[in-house]
Amino acid sequence: MLLAAVFSAAVLAAGAATSSPGAEASTAPLPACRTGDVLSPWRSLAQYRVTILDRWYRLPSTYVPPLRSVSAAGFSSGYAVRREVITDLAAMRAAAARAGARLGIISAYRSYLTQRWTYAKWVRVLGASRAAISSARAGHSEHQLGTAIDFTIPGASAPWGYSDWARTRAGAWLKANAWRYGFVMSYPANRLSVTCYGYEPWHYRWVGREIAARMHGSGLAPRPWLWRHGAEYAWPAPTPAPTPIPEATPTPAPTPEAAATPEATPTPEAVGPPDATSSPATSPDPEPTTTPATTSDPGATTPPEATTAPDATPAPDVTPTP
Ligand code: DAL
Ligand code: ZN
Repeated sequence: MLLAAVFSAAVLAAGAATSSPGAEASTAPLPACRTGDVLSPWRSLAQYRVTILDRWYRLPSTYVPPLRSVSAAGFSSGYAVRREVITDLAAMRAAAARAGARLGIISAYRSYLTQRWTYAKWVRVLGASRAAISSARAGHSEHQLGTAIDFTIPGASAPWGYSDWARTRAGAWLKANAWRYGFVMSYPANRLSVTCYGYEPWHYRWVGREIAARMHGSGLAPRPWLWRHGAEYAWPAPTPAPTPIPEATPTPAPTPEAAATPEATPTPEAVGPPDATSSPATSPDPEPTTTPATTSDPGATTPPEATTAPDATPAPDVTPTP
């Protein structure tokens, strides 16, 4: 227990020192949107549901989640998502179809390199200042988590070509119902100051049904919600206590071992991850900057927007997905 207490204190101290979320729900105010390249505090592959990414926090360039094609969820495009997303994605697609809302996917997982290409493209299209609030720089995109999906209407124009895609049948259905399937709209309207990006009614991030329901109920956008509550989901669940040894029965000769079985002692892993003692919000990036090498991303050398057949058909290299 002493070890656990010291460990938690160290984590909290690190959090306080950097104004980043600690091991407990953060009561520190949500930071203003700033531009920087700081590794996100919860960036391990296991923390993907609550990894905070914005214009400041980013993933390592080497971050590649376990992926599965969205065809496993019934979509006819070449994109991939983190494999845990597939079940809810399939259920959501089916429910939307029953309601008359056909969903397509215009982008999903994007590697670090693909995001670099995507951002550069948007800088050329929009100029640097508008691109900064429309497209994430490499490492900063939720698409690199494998949990973000840009939805579209099959056969229709790209969603960002609409004045408000949330007013289409598909967009309205998602806005009202996506949370039931574990998806949340990352960048809702009129929240730029807290989401750090402009309105994207097509961009949803899967966080699982429990977190999505809590976010939906809170009325908060994902970034402020994760800042406040993400720590509740950032660490592994404590190892369950072993089945208690039954009270000594009045057998005449209990073994010494049975009587001496100790209470379960939490391991350090049970209260925090190995890297929790470092100060991730300010630590320099130890990773190489040139080796994002992905094996499963069809866009590792050429962006998928240019090589795959997304559900929608507009010329993708003119309007890359933000
Ligand atoms: N358009 C969002 C911000 C992204 O690039 O991930
Ligand atoms: Zn997106």
